[in-house]
Amino acid sequence: MPTPPIWHPFTQHGLGPEFPRIERAEGAMLFTEDGREIVDAIASWWVTLHGHGHPRIAQAIARQAQQLEQVIFAQFTHGPAEDLAQGLLARAPQGLETVFFSDNGSTAVEVALKMAIGHWARERQGRGRPLFAALEHAYHGDTFGAMAVGERGVFTQEYAPLLFDVARLPFPYPGKEQETLKAWEDLLAQQGERVAALIVEPLVLGAGGMLTYPPDVLARLAATARRHGVPWIADEVMTGFGRTGSFFAVDQLQGLEPAGDPPMNHGLTPDLLCLSKGITGGFLPLGATLASGAVFQAFQSPQRERMFFHGHSYTANPIACAAALASLEVFSQEPVMERVQAIGQWHDEKLSALAGHPRVAAVRRVGVIAAVEFRAADGGYLHEMAPALSAYSLSRGVLLRPLGNVVYILPPYCISHEQLNKAHDLIAESLELPAPR
Ligand SMILES: Cc1ncc(COP(=O)(O)O)c(C=O)c1O
Repeated sequence: MPTPPIWHPFTQHGLGPEFPRIERAEGAMLFTEDGREIVDAIASWWVTLHGHGHPRIAQAIARQAQQLEQVIFAQFTHGPAEDLAQGLLARAPQGLETVFFSDNGSTAVEVALKMAIGHWARERQGRGRPLFAALEHAYHGDTFGAMAVGERGVFTQEYAPLLFDVARLPFPYPGKEQETLKAWEDLLAQQGERVAALIVEPLVLGAGGMLTYPPDVLARLAATARRHGVPWIADEVMTGFGRTGSFFAVDQLQGLEPAGDPPMNHGLTPDLLCLSKGITGGFLPLGATLASGAVFQAFQSPQRERMFFHGHSYTANPIACAAALASLEVFSQEPVMERVQAIGQWHDEKLSALAGHPRVAAVRRVGVIAAVEFRAADGGYLHEMAPALSAYSLSRGVLLRPLGNVVYILPPYCISHEQLNKAHDLIAESLELPAPR
């Protein structure tokens, strides 16, 4: 048994890891009980946006906790949820009209999958559509539906017999985009009537190795879906709230409607959009699934059995909603997107120096996300480089958590140039250490 008896996520306790005990955090820094200072270069699993302990969010949480901490969200509503729904929809592309709240990224995805299926079942008098299309290397979460649409591999292999089949599209690596687009066209031509939706992480696949692809490829995937009348789901759990340089990654689809296509209702707007992680600025768990009017309408009826049968005990928790509202206020009151742009430039200065290194297979950057892929005969999540580099960087005061042979930086937006350079310099230094197998 670990002491104290806590089973940590994505942790092999058999290796006896000793975890630093974090006592306090501020801005981009974590402070341990024994006096160490650590730059949080991965925004604590991609959640912290404006910095740890941002006073506006902390105060909003304290105020809301004193007023209304929680109330059942079936039969009742409340101001923080209503204001937040309006705030999110005001920032989302036109065509998304309602918000369904849940607790985390996986549930935001589960809700989207169930809405897509449920919408078809209601549209077609019970003759549902059983098939999702998803990208190779996708990661959408750890619950069963989310695992099913994700890449099959070490995360999911023992559950494989229980996961539903998914049509997998090849990842649009540079030069291979046509293969992805053709696979999507072919699938729709051959069995379009069975496809409930396409689900994608827009512009960057996170846990799959920070794999990036350009907006015009996403635009063509979305346009093809639209042409065939098949919904598409943007999983912006990681990319939302500025990570890719725009507020939402799908904002970058504006103006990219392929020439020659008939004008489309709401352009390339996704039918469902999943949010979590940064939604509360990184303070509290909250998920949200934004849905188009058409998806919402499919569930409207005088018959109770046609409702959406889904909910969580803490759906739209008022304190989490108040935190999320305060985070949106930070976007309007502080130069957040300017910080995002600056981080992108600072990344580029450092990445260009690494690009030609013999141990570097590729460098990638989109928005505030910078990734360095180390050369490895056999990469993948379990590559020994990850724990080795993680331990090394932690001993030097930087939190990095490579995905196998891909090390990345995804910082809170308040990070200073100096703090960011410290993380980059550690990556450069680690290239000179003996290579783990
Ligand atoms: C794109 C994407 N979707 C869904 C999830 C799952 O989110 P959560 O860990 O909050 O369940 C993640 C988590 O990394 C993610 O990156």
